[in-house]
Amino acid sequence: MTVQYRSGLRAAITGVHGHVPDYVLSNAELAALVDTSDDWITERTGIRERRILKGEGLGTSHMAAEAVQGLLDKSDTKVEDIDLLICATTTPDMVFPSTANLVCEMVGIRNIGSFDVQAACSGFVYALTIASQFIETGRCRKVVVVGADKMSSIIDYTDRATCVLFGDGAGAVLVEPSSNGYGIVDTLIRSDGSGAPHLHQKAGGSRMPPTAETVAKRLHYVHQEGAAVYKFAVARMAEVGAEIMMRNQLSAATVDWLVPHQANRRIIEATAERMGLPMDRVMMTIQKFGNTTAATIPLSLWDYEPKLKKGDRLVMAAFGGGFTWGGAYLTWAYGANGAMQQRVNEIRVPAE
Ligand code: ACO
Repeated sequence: MTVQYRSGLRAAITGVHGHVPDYVLSNAELAALVDTSDDWITERTGIRERRILKGEGLGTSHMAAEAVQGLLDKSDTKVEDIDLLICATTTPDMVFPSTANLVCEMVGIRNIGSFDVQAACSGFVYALTIASQFIETGRCRKVVVVGADKMSSIIDYTDRATCVLFGDGAGAVLVEPSSNGYGIVDTLIRSDGSGAPHLHQKAGGSRMPPTAETVAKRLHYVHQEGAAVYKFAVARMAEVGAEIMMRNQLSAATVDWLVPHQANRRIIEATAERMGLPMDRVMMTIQKFGNTTAATIPLSLWDYEPKLKKGDRLVMAAFGGGFTWGGAYLTWAYGANGAMQQRVNEIRVPAE
């Protein structure tokens, strides 16, 4: 790991990859489990299906490792060249060690710093913010940021108000110094702990350790007061998008893509409207993946990667449990044409 500070470096996303499990949980299947319908879910949330990780002993790390391995292969990056791995997750495999530690072991990355970031649905923006500082200071040259969640592990499939919303998945990005000027320009992260009563998991932590009673009372599942969270989510997502635009002198005409957290299509539409953006410049993956918490933004980047052009201006906006929220402004550092390796070589700063 480089320990010398170098000023003037800009961090850039130089690769993205995702992983979603094979199993597709459709609205029709959910309607057979709880009192809901395809029409209600589609109209109120925009979700048509979501992916669910099945298989004994498979946790969040499985999907995260698949995404990271794919990213390393695709960008022709050697495991020994990675300086830091950050995993954003709310559904770690275990209380400890961190899922980041487990992912490193699974893909063969050793002797580097790795840790988890817990900021619920804002986790990826938080982790990207941290990664960018390590690059900008010259401390690291290659940082992997993976957002991954197995939400099905904490969802009550008898609660129609939450079980229709969430899915499982992982998305990973490689962050490196950019030499072409494109990359992460600005990030902001915010929190308000008074939001905890509206969105949390009651048991399983140190305040209420697991017991037979907590399990019987179904306290290990997501507790969400949907309407209250919706109100905050709409306000904060729109605010953060507008603030990032104002801080960076952006207008609706100069933003190429909004990359919003995917919690509800109506929240995304309200955010886009406040920013003055038409929906054809808004990344939308909620219809096929649902809310995958820390994975929604990197999965959206992965899904839209073929459409992205070098220099495209992207604004990210996220909101989640905590409450937490955050935003980022970046310019996309590579184009869709040509082999991944060519793109990476083009934007990498030569090693000293
Ligand atoms: N099917 C049918 N009816 C339902 C369902 C369902 N799946 N879920 C709720 N309803 C009912 C409710 O029971 C209620 O019925 P009632 O009027 O008889 O009491 C009615 O629909 C309306 O309920 P609302 O909660 O007001 O429904 P709303 O339109 O607000 O949609 C939703 C609910 C989708 C949860 C919405 O509130 C939402 O998206 N909230 C924000 C989610 C979010 O952004 N979370 C943050 C990120 S997640 C994280 O950080 C982990």
